[in-house]
Amino acid sequence: MKEKWDNRLAFILAAIGSAIGLGNFWRFPYIAYRYGGGAFLIPYLVALFTAGIPLLILEFTLGHKTEHGAPLAFGSYRKNWKWLGWFSIAVAFGIVTYYTVIMSWSFIYFFHSFSLSWGSIPELFFNKMVLEITDSPFNLGGINYIILIFLIVTWIAIYYSIYHGVKTVGKVVYVTVILPWLILLVLIIRGITLPGALEGLSYYLTPNFAALKDPTVWINAYAQIFFTLSVGLGIMIAYSSYLPRKADIVNNAFIIGFANCFTSFLAGIAVFSSLGFLAYQTGKPVSDVVASGPGLVFVAYPTIINMLPFANKIFGALFFVMLLTLGIDSAFSLVEAASKAALEQWKKIPRRALNLLISIIAIIVGLIFSSRGGLYWLDIIDHYISTYGLVVVGFLEAIFIGYLINTKSFQDYMNKQSEIMAGKWWLYSIKIVVPVVLLVAIVYNTINELRTPYEGYPKLALNFGFAFILLLLIISILLSRKQRRL
Ligand code: PFF
Repeated sequence: MKEKWDNRLAFILAAIGSAIGLGNFWRFPYIAYRYGGGAFLIPYLVALFTAGIPLLILEFTLGHKTEHGAPLAFGSYRKNWKWLGWFSIAVAFGIVTYYTVIMSWSFIYFFHSFSLSWGSIPELFFNKMVLEITDSPFNLGGINYIILIFLIVTWIAIYYSIYHGVKTVGKVVYVTVILPWLILLVLIIRGITLPGALEGLSYYLTPNFAALKDPTVWINAYAQIFFTLSVGLGIMIAYSSYLPRKADIVNNAFIIGFANCFTSFLAGIAVFSSLGFLAYQTGKPVSDVVASGPGLVFVAYPTIINMLPFANKIFGALFFVMLLTLGIDSAFSLVEAASKAALEQWKKIPRRALNLLISIIAIIVGLIFSSRGGLYWLDIIDHYISTYGLVVVGFLEAIFIGYLINTKSFQDYMNKQSEIMAGKWWLYSIKIVVPVVLLVAIVYNTINELRTPYEGYPKLALNFGFAFILLLLIISILLSRKQRRL
């Protein structure tokens, strides 16, 4: 018998579990900060409604209708489009190789919480003591073994979480979804009562209409929406393939989209109030109080934890455990999507052996991010994979469903499953808004990056980032060819 979710709630929780993760607590705040706080929030919300939710509905329908993982889901409509499914999985795999390194940092912070060892200058602690960071991406500085050890521990935890398959996934997330909201509440209450917090919040919440003209902000808003909703990664297709026949697709997409983005918004409140506090302490403007990179929240959260009136250590530990549990159900959703795709093609491989193989390859790729220059590579690969991987997948999905198949019957199927109808607005966004906006953003971004290198990194390093995406693409095409012959 085919594996199914126990009930609709189990599916919603698992999908929320995949969506809510480090993307909300780690990536959203630093991307919002990098692209100007209030300047980012409007494009972000527009991206949620014009692309995030419509594509979530699309992926749920695709998975539910075909009952396949991503490659076969596309392939069941058009044989030579399987590669798109593989590409989305390759992109997700690329993400998880560094995502788990951030989980490893969180592990390290969990232990440091018991002595609040980051002290009064968390930024210095993060760079010098945790990362032992080098001065450039070309100076790898050898492997940081502590990071590597916790990377391996992370993968062991992921492997065991999915040992029994999709049913357990549904159960694990009961814990991982509720706890974070409670912890966030405490952080927010302390954060917004810190001196200077208001300045941080006004940086976060005051819209900057002038910045709306900048396509770089837009492409990053769309990329963040895809990342955070786990859209374009083959995950939601795989998860919805396990839905029972009657499933309220449109409603589910709204619930998941809102719950997820609301969580990011709250995380932003905590982080920006702490940035306001840092600005107050140092006398610098909020916009340059910390480096706006992947390390941002490892400065911001410890700053608030330091300032809690009591139980700082316990609370700090609880916070980092929460980050880990949040990360883990996102990470295993990927392994699940990848192994479903592979098992549908190579039926004879034992599932557990495959999961093990995926984990081992991910650790090997993760070595680069575990080096002392790893943060630079993490930043570069994260940038390329989200803007050229995720956004391109989202664009192609819209073209595929909007133009290459019978869109009307696809939409009818979707609406038959739903209480709220996905009417004209859905069709317009899939056929027009998503393709046009994303195409303009991709073209502009490419031209722009040829002129001004991303974050001032050496061109050669950026070429490696780009080559990494190409490699993923080539692997996807090879995988889909191989299958045709089998
Ligand atoms: N939606 C997840 C998050 O925001 O944290 C992103 C994610 C990353 C999902 C990596 C899956 C994955 F393998």
